[in-house]
Amino acid sequence: MARQLDVSLGERSYPIHVGSGVLALAGDLALQAGARRAIVITNATVAAHWLAPLRASIASAGLGCDVVLVPDGEAHKSLATLNDVVTRLLELRAERGSLLVALGGGVIGDLCGFAAGVYQRGTPFMQVPTTLLAQVDSSVGGKTAVNHPLGKNMIGVFWQPRSVLVDTQCLRTLPDRELGAGIAEIIKYGAIRDREFFDWLERSIDSLVARDASALEHAIVRSCQIKADIVARDERETGERALLNFGHTFGHAIETATGYSQWLHGEAIAIGMVLASRLSSLVAGLSVADAGRIEALIARARLPVAPPAMTIDRWVDLMSHDKKVQAGVIRFILLEGIGQALVRTGVPRDVLERVVERADSRSNESLPRS
Ligand code: NAD
Ligand code: GLY
Repeated sequence: MARQLDVSLGERSYPIHVGSGVLALAGDLALQAGARRAIVITNATVAAHWLAPLRASIASAGLGCDVVLVPDGEAHKSLATLNDVVTRLLELRAERGSLLVALGGGVIGDLCGFAAGVYQRGTPFMQVPTTLLAQVDSSVGGKTAVNHPLGKNMIGVFWQPRSVLVDTQCLRTLPDRELGAGIAEIIKYGAIRDREFFDWLERSIDSLVARDASALEHAIVRSCQIKADIVARDERETGERALLNFGHTFGHAIETATGYSQWLHGEAIAIGMVLASRLSSLVAGLSVADAGRIEALIARARLPVAPPAMTIDRWVDLMSHDKKVQAGVIRFILLEGIGQALVRTGVPRDVLERVVERADSRSNESLPRS
């Protein structure tokens, strides 16, 4: 049964539909958005599995449907690909009455959303996320971006979709590692906002890893609810929305240090959450037992827990490029308890050193290494 949640942003409010087979709603939702045609932006990997049912739904609503294919991979989330997409939109004579549809993971969603935000100064778009990470995080909230060689997600706009269609069927074709990366973001929501949900995750993690449909749907709905509530209160990340970056200060440093090649984004965030939890137990009031619960849950999700070996100078240098840095000061999202997050600055260097060193002595034995 499909569930509908809402992101409440006044006249820019929109629904998130979650359920098995909700892809079939795309045509009707496009009509409701006032679209005269649809242009799907996707890649060949996703198109092979999920373009046909999306097209069928759009056709059944009597709308024309063009498709723009972009190459698969984070390396193509770039201004060059954006330029190619805009060129295709112009060749297809896309107008503001055309609805762009992002069919894919976070790379496609961020790229298509950015194209929609800037094409003719703003064109409507729909998110159809097909990875678990995109279903619980990147498709909701209107952050769009492409990467610059000097920094990830450095060029973008806030541009909200007209609707988000989370079809849990799409997860059937998702590789296990990509599923795990999405589970990391789900654990993040429990850790920062909802202790009961965290308890539920501890009971249900094996079912999630085994792709149990009802467990996955519950986790997606609760994650989207938490994100939608935070975005409704702080769309532009002037305050509370920063809490969604729990694990990201360490995680982004790990991604940069390993050249984005060793770990998926969600995997780097998993290690980052372990480090942020350890730091929380040293300076923010999280009990050592609760830091241990977070680490144990991440490990049970078959996610990595140990960071790459780096000097403290390298850690500090990498973390000072984070987007949360203000006036050169590194800001950490930490936990006072499970479900209670806060922003903390002024963490002494020797404390940071203890956190990364202690974690350094662990290994990621149960994990795929690339
Ligand atoms: P991704 O988009 O690269 O997808 C991962 C891989 O899975 C790709 O090869 C993709 O083609 C493939 N794939 C997608 N759906 C599939 C399916 N159903 N079956 C089989 N294969 C499928 O990666 P991602 O993890 O979804 O997204 C990561 C991106 O999201 C990063 O660029 C990150 O910066 C961004 N992000 C954005 C936000 C935001 O708020 N906008 C939040 C978090 C992450
Ligand atoms: N993924 C963090 C945010 O959307 O704010």
